[in-house]
Amino acid sequence: MRILFLGDVVGRSGRTAVVEQLPLLRECYRLDFVVVNGENAAGGFGITEAIVNELLDAGADVITSGNHVFDQRETLTFIERHDSLLRPINFPPGTPGKGTGLFKTKTGAEVLVLNVQGRVFMADLDDPFRAVERELDACRLKEGADAILIDFHAEATSEKEAMGHFVDGRATAVIGTHTHVPTADEQILPGGTAYISDAGMCGDFNSVLGMDKEEPVQRFLTKIPTARFAPSLGEATLCGVAIEVDDATGLARAFAPLRRGGRLSPAEPGFWLPEG
Ligand SMILES: [Fe+2]
Ligand SMILES: [Fe+2]
Repeated sequence: MRILFLGDVVGRSGRTAVVEQLPLLRECYRLDFVVVNGENAAGGFGITEAIVNELLDAGADVITSGNHVFDQRETLTFIERHDSLLRPINFPPGTPGKGTGLFKTKTGAEVLVLNVQGRVFMADLDDPFRAVERELDACRLKEGADAILIDFHAEATSEKEAMGHFVDGRATAVIGTHTHVPTADEQILPGGTAYISDAGMCGDFNSVLGMDKEEPVQRFLTKIPTARFAPSLGEATLCGVAIEVDDATGLARAFAPLRRGGRLSPAEPGFWLPEG
């Protein structure tokens, strides 16, 4: 099974990159399943129902999120109508929406997607490790699901690495999101779980985390807000990771970054390229 995960989509330039490139990627790489983190898709803050539909139409099967999921108030209501939009599972009980779902690919394979948020240098949510443990107990690899993807939306690389090792051999992949900067530590852990600390964003890298750079720079200099943060509108780099799943075990057989367009150097998953 071939799975593509795209990191946090930031604003219009990130959405444009996804909408323009994902249909082609789905076709040329013969993707079975696509997950996109959409927490910054609406002007950098949250996501609207129209954007959910836009990303699904472009070829996303599931949209994950994070701490910004409810920045747009409408999300509190429409999230209940969209099983394919997930919010972190360890939000307080009673929070609208779901943090996990079992999704079918076109070939009938079942993929469990789990969205969970870290709590080091972030809001004090419920324990992400125990939340993941509960879900993996309820749905084991190759018993309840053919693949299990965890979007770990967290700030600290230590917490992310710990999560990778905590589930090593029990999940197909742990993919870090939230910091918007792609890390170079993609690997398959000893037990067979693919791991990266951050997939990177789909956004303009001539920016501070996808936002116009002037205001963040000024705030660091003066500590006084002078304007709202607005997404940077230059060409986005599409940032994500490609996972080839071993269908016999549900673990990762190959794992590599994918980067296209914009300012970052390109990367293509060689194991998917046609030969010759
Ligand atoms: Fe983000
Ligand atoms: Fe975030």
